[in-house]
Amino acid sequence: MPPRRAAVPSFAKVNLSLKVLGRRADGYHELRTVFQTVGLHDRIEFDFAPARRGLEIELEDALAIPDNLALRAARLYCESEGVRGALRMKLRKRIPMGAGLGGGSSNAAAVLLALGALTGRRTPLGRLRRMAESLGSDVPFFLYGGTALGLGRGEELYPLPEARPCSMLILAPPVHVSTAEAYRALGRPSLTSPFDSRKLNVFQSFVWRMENLSGTENDFEAAVFGLHPELARWKRKLERLGAHAARLSGSGAALFGVFPDRAKLQGALPKFSKEPLKVFSTTLLSRARYRARVLGSLREHVIGNDWPPVSRYERHEL
Ligand code: C5P
Repeated sequence: MPPRRAAVPSFAKVNLSLKVLGRRADGYHELRTVFQTVGLHDRIEFDFAPARRGLEIELEDALAIPDNLALRAARLYCESEGVRGALRMKLRKRIPMGAGLGGGSSNAAAVLLALGALTGRRTPLGRLRRMAESLGSDVPFFLYGGTALGLGRGEELYPLPEARPCSMLILAPPVHVSTAEAYRALGRPSLTSPFDSRKLNVFQSFVWRMENLSGTENDFEAAVFGLHPELARWKRKLERLGAHAARLSGSGAALFGVFPDRAKLQGALPKFSKEPLKVFSTTLLSRARYRARVLGSLREHVIGNDWPPVSRYERHEL
């Protein structure tokens, strides 16, 4: 049987708004957030050879990322779905790591989605979700993509109307902020009860008039800008150059600016060339585009356009 190959895009996200309401009994923080996928992506190449016995999983990753989520996702999927065979993956990384852009979480979700198609398992979305939740708080979002409301620790998700494909600049500074460290930096004083009505009001107002993306907020900014003051300067620079929303993404340290049009973005782009930053020019990616791009990359292994992708190998199981 010939090996089954695919090169699957794994997209980044930003948080258009992120409110941290309080620390829960389980140690996680209660969130209200709006997730948004963007065009910036990694690529994961898969090569799967089914076999009657044994399981071999390998990941080639030039950056040698410790405890790589893509590898953990592959092991979890294959073990819980009883997959037998040899799986080789190659991770081509573009999304900066530890930046609040969800790169690792996105890789994990891409692996879960691709393995269903390549191994011939019809894993229901509910089971994929449970695997995703156990891998990390942001992983479930990447099983859906587009614009979504995230509650709880970010794993309770509801679709929001599709965003327009606005132009966006992403600035990735050479600063790594660990998520756990960012939550600790929030400190107790800024956290109130999970029912803080002011925070809930601010968040609701944003979601109700999200179309123009004004009024975005990120509760991590004060704490993370306190640790890395240069981030506040780059955020102001994005605003000065015409971004109508400029924010830290997730717990940072990447910043994003949404521009009213491509020309404004093109004008701003060279102004960052002398800064010690990686700069990405991209657009917001709708749920429909997200799914079409993932499905397209798995085209020869799937039937139809259902989501999650449905494998064509199901009836030819070993
Ligand atoms: O879920 P994930 O592994 O991505 O979270 C990493 C760390 O971030 C957690 O161990 C926790 O310290 C913190 N976190 C949190 N509240 C959330 C999400 C993450 O406190 N909603």
